[in-house]
This record gives sequence, C-alpha cells and structure tokens, in this order.
Amino acid sequence: MSEAMWGGRFTKTTDEMINEFQASIGFDKRMYHEDIAGSIAHATMLAKAGIISVDDKDKIIAGLKDILAQIENGEFDFSVDLEDIHMNIEKRLTDAIGEAGGRLHTARSRNDQVALDTHMYVRRQVVEVQKEIQNLQQALVETAEKYGDVIMPGYTHLQRAQPILFAHHLMAYFGMLSRDFARFEGVYKRADIMPLGAGALAGTTFPIDREFVAKQLNFEAIYNNSLDAVSDRDYIMEFLSAASILMVHLSRLSEETILWCSREFSFVELDDAHCTGSSMMPQKKNPDVSELVRGKTGRVIGHLMAMLTTVKGLPLAYNKDLQEDKEGIFDAIDTVKFSLAVYAQLIRGMKVRKEVMMTAVAEDFSNATDLADYLVKKGMPFRQAHAVSGTAVHNCIAQGKYLKDMTLEEFKELSPLFEADIQEAISPETCVKNRNSFGGTSYQQVELQLKAAKELLAAE
Ligand code: ARG
Repeated sequence: MSEAMWGGRFTKTTDEMINEFQASIGFDKRMYHEDIAGSIAHATMLAKAGIISVDDKDKIIAGLKDILAQIENGEFDFSVDLEDIHMNIEKRLTDAIGEAGGRLHTARSRNDQVALDTHMYVRRQVVEVQKEIQNLQQALVETAEKYGDVIMPGYTHLQRAQPILFAHHLMAYFGMLSRDFARFEGVYKRADIMPLGAGALAGTTFPIDREFVAKQLNFEAIYNNSLDAVSDRDYIMEFLSAASILMVHLSRLSEETILWCSREFSFVELDDAHCTGSSMMPQKKNPDVSELVRGKTGRVIGHLMAMLTTVKGLPLAYNKDLQEDKEGIFDAIDTVKFSLAVYAQLIRGMKVRKEVMMTAVAEDFSNATDLADYLVKKGMPFRQAHAVSGTAVHNCIAQGKYLKDMTLEEFKELSPLFEADIQEAISPETCVKNRNSFGGTSYQQVELQLKAAKELLAAE
C-alpha cells in the first residue's frame, strides 16, 4: 500500500517526479486560511448533524487552530508529498490529534473543498481589488481638483481636436474605474455561492446541513447542483475578465502617461522617486512604472485566455486540469492590486506643465469647431460654417499663423457674420466654458463630475 492519504488501492508509492509534477502545494498554500475556516465550519456541521461526536469536533477545531497559528508563525513545514494545502493540513491534524482527525473528511471531497477555498479566497480578494480601485479613483479626483483650470488639447487620431480640461481627461478614467468596480461587484456575487457539500461530484450519503455551513462561512447562496458546484470556474473566468478589462484601462492611461512625459509632449513630469535612469545614458529618466503596467496587461489577458482554454473542453465534473485555475488567478490578483497601488502613487506625484499644455492648445487649430459654431449661432447652416472655418484654417497655414492671429477684416472677408467678439469666442477658455452640455468639458460640467465622483467614493 502507498503511504499517500489515498494509498489504499496502490501497490507502489508515487514516482518522485510525478509527485512533484502534480503537486499544487507550492501555490495553493496561500489559501490556508480559507481551508482551515472551511474545515472548522464543516466539522461544526458534522457534529451538529450527529455525524461525528462533539468531542471529536472540539479536538478537530482545536487542532486546526493550532495549525493556523503554526502557519502564521512560519512554523509549518509544507510537504510536496502531501500534494496540496488540503492534505497538508489534514495530515498534520491527524498526526496531532489522532483518530478524530481522520473523521474530518467525512462527507467531503477535495473536489468540493478546493472549490470552497477558491471561492472564499477570490471573494476576499475582490474586496481588496475594489479598495485599490477606489484609492486610484481618489488619486484621480485629487489631481483633477489640484489642476482644475488646466486646459489641454483633446485628441482624436492622436491629432489635436478640441480644447478640454485636463481634469475632464482624468475623470474619463474615473468613469472606467467605476465600471471596473461594478464588474468586480458581479464577480463577488458569483464567488459568493457555496460549493461545499457537493462531495466528489454527486452529493453525499450523510445527512449534511449545507445551509448551516453556508451561514457560518457567510455565503449568500449554495450551488443547487453538485456537478456544477465542483466544475464551475465561471467566477475565476469572470475575475480574470474583469481584471483584464481593468488592466486595459490602466494600460491606456499608461500609454498616455508615457506620451505625456516624452520630450515631444512634455505635458507632465513624473516624480523622480517614481522613475528610473539608464545605466549608459546619463540624461535618461524613464517612465518604467507605466511601461510595466502596460506590459503586465498582456500577462493578465494571457491568464484569462489560459483559463478559458483550460475549461472549454472539460467534461463534467472535476478534472485535474482545473488545478491550473490557481496560478493564473493568483498572479492576476497580485498584479492588479500592485498595479493599482503603484498607479495611484504615480498620479499623486505627477506634475502638470500647464504652460506647455496651453501652448499646445493656442498654437494650433483645435478651436476651428468653435469658429464654425460661432457662425452657426449667427444663422449660418453648419455645413457652410464648417467650410468657412476650413478655409480660415487653410489660409492661416499658408501664412504661417493661427486663427488667433487673424484680424477682424480677414474674418469679414470670409463672412460678413463675423463681429468684434470673434477672438473672444474662440479663445481656449471660451471653447472649454461653452461645452456645457451634460458630460461635456466645461468648468461647470467637470465640477459636477467631481462632485458626483466624491459622493460615489464616500458612499461605496
Ligand atoms: N489540488 C487539487 C486542485 O487544486 C485539489 C483537488 C484534487 N482532487 C482530486 N481528486 N485530485 O484542484
């Protein structure tokens, strides 16, 4: 007989290389807290249902608490021979308390146990990710307020398009992060369903009380199909999907940050403490954080693809392939939390070069739409006004100047509708101020966005 916990039907011990290959203890040990909490709830239920004695239950719980302390004090020796966190803990428990330990696994399989632990772990991590999302949102709000009057060019096709408030630009990311937050709320809901009690796949012959276990472990719901309970990895795919979308948002912000602190743009300057230099080129100050966040986005998307691919061909119910769910999601959790935390710091330390942004607005044609709108407000059809403004831009380019340099006479040659107020009407401040439609870039609308954002953060 093999000495493994399942060794009864085996005549040989597991090959050493196979053992190492199939073990998950190297990464699933991070779920020790969930594993112990789950076992305490399970043992409590077993005693309540009369499946094990109260005495055995007490021994099991005391033993598990000891093990928890050992793990937290770094005194627990994890063994690859015991494959995973579940068997490491159960074996240590049985070594410590004897026969009672051998009763803990009654009416339970590692298939529903691992599902339970992972649900609980993901549920806990969702809350932490959400806290980090809020921290970054807070940093965006603070920075938007700090630079509330800064005007920059808004872009389409990466060509200067219309003047906007820098705060408006930052608040666009706030909106994306609000949706990310809500997506993680959905992930929480799907992780908040308890699989324990499914047994290996088909339920159990013992009179267990799943409601009671769910209550102890704070689950909102219970899987009502045992096959689904042990096979479901939707909540992991959903986490990875929400995490991928979040990382895509951070990656877009990173791309902009990298552009903005290039010499070509020079819109912002990052804090020296948030950048690194070059070992060869003494002048370099590189935006590594943004580049890394942009790069790590690929990793997180990769984990989502890996998980979808792992699950897509799997027959019900448990297959060992499902053990592959963990490294990806653990890495995604660490990556997302770290990226969010680092980004909040980066944004808080960012210095905005107001004058450079303003020059980029003034020395270009991003007020050409406003020139057309001016004529429309005097009665000209928009298509015609668009053509007049286009001609004005064309003439300026030919003469090496901007709309702001045109005289009233030059304007009047293009249309008699132009009056003395034209320059005022196309100044960057007016362009911004007049885009006062709901959700627009006007000072007033951005003020409203900031107000709503602060209320949202206070309420969450
Ligand atoms: N280590 C396994 C996992 O992470 C636990 C479940 C194993 N069950 C089994 N029958 N081999 O998926």
